Amino acid sequence: MAVSDTAITIAPEVQKFIGETRKMLIDGKWVDAASGKTFEVYNPATGEVMAHVAEGDAEDINRAVRAARRAFDDGPWRKMSPSQRGRCISRLADLIEQHGEEFAQLESLDNGKPLTVARVADIPLSVDLFRYMSGWATKIEGNTIPISAGNYFAYTLREPIGVVGQIIPWNFPLLMAAWKLGPALAAGCAIVLKPAEQTPLSALKLGELVKEAGIPDGVVNIVPGFGETAGAALAAHPEVDKVAFTGSTEVGKLIVQAAAGNLKKVSLELGGKSPNIIMKDVDVATAVAGASFSIFFNHGQCCSAGSRLYVEREVFDQVVEGVAEQAKKIRLGSGFDPTTDMGPLVSDEQLQRVTGYLESGISSGARPLSGGERHGEQGYFVKPTVLVDVRQDMKVVQEEIFGPVVVAQPFKELDEILPVANDTVYGLAAGIWTRDLSKAHRLAASLRAGTVWINCYNVFDAALPFGGYKQSGWGREMGHEVLENYTEVKSVCIGL
Ligand code: NAI
Ligand code: MG
Repeated sequence: MAVSDTAITIAPEVQKFIGETRKMLIDGKWVDAASGKTFEVYNPATGEVMAHVAEGDAEDINRAVRAARRAFDDGPWRKMSPSQRGRCISRLADLIEQHGEEFAQLESLDNGKPLTVARVADIPLSVDLFRYMSGWATKIEGNTIPISAGNYFAYTLREPIGVVGQIIPWNFPLLMAAWKLGPALAAGCAIVLKPAEQTPLSALKLGELVKEAGIPDGVVNIVPGFGETAGAALAAHPEVDKVAFTGSTEVGKLIVQAAAGNLKKVSLELGGKSPNIIMKDVDVATAVAGASFSIFFNHGQCCSAGSRLYVEREVFDQVVEGVAEQAKKIRLGSGFDPTTDMGPLVSDEQLQRVTGYLESGISSGARPLSGGERHGEQGYFVKPTVLVDVRQDMKVVQEEIFGPVVVAQPFKELDEILPVANDTVYGLAAGIWTRDLSKAHRLAASLRAGTVWINCYNVFDAALPFGGYKQSGWGREMGHEVLENYTEVKSVCIGL
C-alpha cells in the first residue's frame, strides 16, 4: 500500500498548468493579487507543495465585484438573448468535456481523489450540470395573474438577482463550481466565485474556458484566497446582491451575519449527519455494498455521507461485519495509482480533525471493527472505519466527521428508529434499504431530510433538487428549484 505518484504520468498540459503561478480572473483578464501575495497548494498524497496561486483578499474582491457590477448593470450579458446565453453555457459544457482528462488530473492531484473516480464522476457530472442549466436559460418565465382588485392586467417577470458571490468547498472542486455557476449564468447573473483554498486549480482551469465559450468579460470572475479574508469580504460586500455558500454549518452562520449588512439574499448548502436505515428484509450483500458506498465514496468527504448506520437487529452483525470486511479491502494510495480505491483526505487539517474524532469515539467506548486510525506516515490517509458500541450522546454520533468513518447501531422497531434518525441538528439526506414498499414510503415521508434515497445512495442528477432541512441549509441546488436562488420576481400591474 505504498504511496507513489508514478503509476500514471501527469499530462504535459497539466504539468505546465501547475508549474506556473496561477493568477486570478477579473474582468476577463488574468491578474496577480493586488498585494502581490501567493499561497501554496499541497498534494494531499505526499503533503508536498505542488502549485502556487495568487492570494486574493478584500481588495481583489472589490475589483472583482466592480467588474461583475459593470458586466451586470451595463454589459452585453443582460442584452444577450436567452438563447445566446444558453448557447454560451452549452459551449462551456462542451469545452469542459473536451478538456476532461486535464480536469480529472487536476482534481485528483489537488483533492486526492482517485483519478478513476474524477473521470467517471466529478467531470461528467459537471458537464451534465452545465448542459442541463443551458436549457433553462430560455425557460425562465413569469406568469399572467388574474387579480380581483379591479380592472387591471397583471403579470410577473422573473429577473436575474444581480451580482452573486459564490463560495465553495474542496470536496468536489469542479462540480461545486458547476452547481453554483450553471444556474447563476442561466438566470443572467454576474458572478464572483471564490474556490476553496485547498483546491483552487480546477476552477482556475474552468476560468480559461469561459471566454472561449463566449461569455463576456466580467460575467465570471474567479478570486482564489482564504475564507477569513477573501471569503469574508465577498459575503459582506455591499455591492453584492446575493451570496451562495457551500461548506461547514459553522461558516454558514458567519455568512448569514456578514450578509446582514446589506441584507443580501443568502442560500446555503451545509453539513450533514445522514442516517442510513437498513431493514431485516433486505438482500444483505446489496445492503452491505450500499452502506459501504454511502460512507466511503469520496473518502466520506460528502455532505450527504451515510455516516450513521441503523440496522434492524436480526441482520446487524451480518451487515456491520460485511461493511468492515469491505473497509479492510479498500486499497489506500495516491489518486494517480490505478490500483487505488481511496485516496488521502484533502489536508492536514482534515486529517487532524478526523483522527481527533476517532480518538474521541474510541476513548468514550466505541469499538472499531475496521480502521480507527491514520494510515501510514506520509500524506493524509485515514483507514476506512466502522465504529460499533456507540451511544447517541457521543460526539462521533452527533457531529459531522467528514471522513471515512461510520457509526453503527442496531434497532428493534421501525417506530423506535425514526426519532433517533431525526435526532440531529442536520437534515440533508437519508437512506432506506428495504423491500417493503409501505415501510419505505412511510419512512421517506417522516424523515426530516432534503433527500431520501431508497435502495440506493449518493445518486445525484442535475434535474433533482438537493439541499437541507434544519441546519443543513437554505434553498436548493440543481433542478428548476435552484433558479429561485438566482432570480427575483417582479409584479407588473396595469390599469385598464
Ligand atoms: P469551511 O466551511 O471553512 O470552508 C468552505 C469554504 O468557505 C471555503 O471556500 C472557505 O475558504 C470558505 N470560508 C471559510 N471561512 C469563511 C468565512 N469566515 N467567510 C467566508 N468564507 C469562508 O470548511 P472547512 O474548514 O474546509 O472544513 C471544515 C468542515 O466543514 C469539514 O470537516 C466538514 O465537516 C464541513 N464541510 C462541509 C462541506 C459540505 O459540502 N457541506 C464541504 C466542506 C467542509
Ligand atoms: Mg474552515
